[in-house]
Amino acid sequence: MEEQKKDVLILAIETSCDETAAAVVKNGREVLSNTIYTQIKLHTMFGGVVPEIASRKHIEKINIVIETALKEADVTLEDIDAIAVTYGPGLVGALLVGVAEAKALAYAAKKPLVGVHHIEGHISANYIEHKELEPPFLCMVASGGHSHLVLVKGYGEYEIIGRTRDDAAGEAFDKVARAIGLGYPGGPKIDKLAKEGNKKAIAFPRAKITDAPDDFSFSGLKSAVLNYLNQCQMKGEEVNRADVAASFQQSVTDVLTEHTVGAAKRLGINKVAIAGGVASNSSLRAQMEEACRKNGIEFYHPSPIFCTDNAAMIGVAGYYEYIKGIRDGWDLNAKPNLKIGER
Ligand code: KG4
Ligand code: ZN
Repeated sequence: MEEQKKDVLILAIETSCDETAAAVVKNGREVLSNTIYTQIKLHTMFGGVVPEIASRKHIEKINIVIETALKEADVTLEDIDAIAVTYGPGLVGALLVGVAEAKALAYAAKKPLVGVHHIEGHISANYIEHKELEPPFLCMVASGGHSHLVLVKGYGEYEIIGRTRDDAAGEAFDKVARAIGLGYPGGPKIDKLAKEGNKKAIAFPRAKITDAPDDFSFSGLKSAVLNYLNQCQMKGEEVNRADVAASFQQSVTDVLTEHTVGAAKRLGINKVAIAGGVASNSSLRAQMEEACRKNGIEFYHPSPIFCTDNAAMIGVAGYYEYIKGIRDGWDLNAKPNLKIGER
């Protein structure tokens, strides 16, 4: 009798923005390799991601990144059970590189293909280091393009509880960082500088949307920071950049924490997770942890390397889709505006 195969190995590919990434994930929870070629340096001189440059660099790096991921996991393409790839949302040209690569590999190696939603990947990053975490839980996702409160009802089953009305939290970090001359990407730079500043120095607003308490809005806060900087300039006053960074960051983390804990309490959910690039913010992590502890809520967060874009998270989300029997065909296409829970 043929020996039954127990382990499921997923090769995952992620190219939705400025990270060319591949990973091998075992049984949805164990990361055997997580290779990331970051293009950040290339885009820094332009103050943000240049889509055309991102696509070209993905093409240049994708093969070596995949080869490295397979090598580090000590497996070959033959050993892989399925290939998972981010097909949206993101930059269309960037997504296309990963999707085309995944289709070519899956076709050549006769492996099933599973398209994964980028944000569902971010959420699934929480499963990597919290082996005990299972749905249902509430996840606050904050990245460069998204700020969502998502109720994870089951594996691959999502309900959006709140969303941003304008800018994403990461976008606000990037814009404020640019305004105070810190450059791209803003989040980590503000995080660092804020440690030297006074978070109570400047009273920036904390936006609330009356008819939708779980929604976010960060554009007013961004304008308030820009106004503050303009006023200082007009009055000839020197700006304390560390105070601006700390006060701005506090405003964002207050809103994200209050909304998340508030929604969890109202929904009667006692497990809260965070995800996305902004989830690596040290102040947000500390504040969420404290607020959850005070409210008897279990708090989960991925390590910073699994918060920012990576392929391991895509491998985890892809695994849960794969074991449900979800397969994509050769017509899988990049969907830059793909919605959560949509296929
Ligand atoms: O998830 P991600 O890597 O890419 C997207 O899917 O957008 O998120 C990138 C965003 C950027 O806006 C970046 O400034 C922000 O996450 N970010 C941070 C930190 N690290 C990255 N924001 C605040 N604090 C950080 N430590
Ligand atoms: Zn992302």
